[in-house]
Amino acid sequence: MKILMTEEEITQRVAALGESITEAYRGKDLTVVVIMNGALLFGADLVRRIQLPIRIDLFAASSYENDRSSGKLKVRSELKNSPAGRHLLLVDDILDTGFSMKCIREHLAGSGALSIRTCVLLNKHVGGKQFLAPDWVGFDIPDRYVVGYGLDSEEEYRNLPYIGILE
Ligand code: IMP
Ligand code: MG
Repeated sequence: MKILMTEEEITQRVAALGESITEAYRGKDLTVVVIMNGALLFGADLVRRIQLPIRIDLFAASSYENDRSSGKLKVRSELKNSPAGRHLLLVDDILDTGFSMKCIREHLAGSGALSIRTCVLLNKHVGGKQFLAPDWVGFDIPDRYVVGYGLDSEEEYRNLPYIGILE
């Protein structure tokens, strides 16, 4: 395992993202939607760095099966609360093609949310063609398969406190 981002680097970057998000949503009703399971750790750390009276909700979906894109979104669990009249910030671990995030965004678009923006910890495929441009990005990374800090390979490695390249 080659370490790509240490625990300290992640902590610092998440704090900066939290500050930026705090400024962007001051005075607005924000619901942070943590996309499960990949954004479990990132989402938990990020919300603690947003200094606003936010709500937190979970949305479980993925477009990946066995580390390969299955080409369609599978929704496993919907939001608990209606987003009507609120601003949504969708938080995910990693954007590769952007297909998953685009599908989730479209899925939630008819829900009455005032706005829907996106925040990902990692952005792969930088410069390449993506289905969606994220509003906040933690780190641009090379096109390698990474694990840790919520990211898995067949459900393992999610609990690593750092992000590494699987070799
Ligand atoms: P996209 O739909 O191509 O943007 O793929 C995004 C999803 O694929 C993420 O939410 C992850 O679940 C998964 N994924 C993509 N690249 C990686 C990786 O390097 N490690 C772990 N999961 C990944
Ligand atoms: Mg995911």
